[in-house]
Amino acid sequence: MSRRTEGADGTAEGTAADSALEAEFDTVAAWTERAVDELGADHAIPAACRGSGRPADLAWLAEGLDLHGDDRFLDAGSGLGGPTAWLAREHAPSWTGPAVLAEPMAHAAAASRRLFGLPATAAWTEHLPLPDDAVDAAWCLGVLDTTGDERALLTELHRVLRPGGRLGLLVLVARGELSEEPAGNSFPTDDSLHHDLATTGFRVLDRLDASSLPDAPADWARRAEAVDAVVARDHGDHPDFREADRQQEILGRLMAAKEVVTVLVRARTC
Ligand SMILES: C[S@@+](CC[C@H](N)C(=O)[O-])C[C@H]1O[C@@H](n2cnc3c(N)ncnc32)[C@H](O)[C@@H]1O
Repeated sequence: MSRRTEGADGTAEGTAADSALEAEFDTVAAWTERAVDELGADHAIPAACRGSGRPADLAWLAEGLDLHGDDRFLDAGSGLGGPTAWLAREHAPSWTGPAVLAEPMAHAAAASRRLFGLPATAAWTEHLPLPDDAVDAAWCLGVLDTTGDERALLTELHRVLRPGGRLGLLVLVARGELSEEPAGNSFPTDDSLHHDLATTGFRVLDRLDASSLPDAPADWARRAEAVDAVVARDHGDHPDFREADRQQEILGRLMAAKEVVTVLVRARTC
């Protein structure tokens, strides 16, 4: 696993990919939280949806999760917690169940509590501190391409989901040879994703190319951009900002060229 190798003392070994991951998902998460403080709470959800970004994607996946009553829900790789905050807002009061957030980056995990009152456990999805059959539904958004071992991650999600449990995935998928590679990303292909889901005990109910869904509403995009602008204003010279920006630019080019596309998956444990 690229980012989950452990040294003899059990601590994570540092790699270039670890630095890129921390710059993009931890340092920038802390800066994002401060920018939301400045701009106002109505900026929090758009700014804190870092992997999905768009309400239409979240709504399509949420429909597959079919949350109701006191269903137990897991957000694996929850980042700043924006998607779960959106889910709780959109699906209350018909869903009132507990949400467990798990996110390995310490600043991001702490920020989800401060921004949304959603405490996150600091954990990698490959090693969730949950018993078997702990949740009825889970989603994992924008995470699979940041682990070198998709199968380990899916196996662990399968373990913590109850039999028949629902899974929503947002996955960046490579369509053929890539002209460049962002540090620390390892994009599955459609075939490898399908194969890994089947091998780890998931039945795919539906999948969708996210480009067929509408873009984020202008107001949502404006708020996310305003937060990004404050982060750039305050930290644009910082090496972590430049590193995260470089990775985002590479990803942006790959997506514009459709070498990498966003795929949404609704699946069930079988
Ligand atoms: C693109 S962000 C998406 C965050 C959030 N899911 C969202 O949609 O806003 C990817 C997140 O996955 C986390 N991550 C990376 N590798 C992970 C792993 N192996 N297990 C769990 N989370 C991981 C990162 O720290 C980061 O917060």
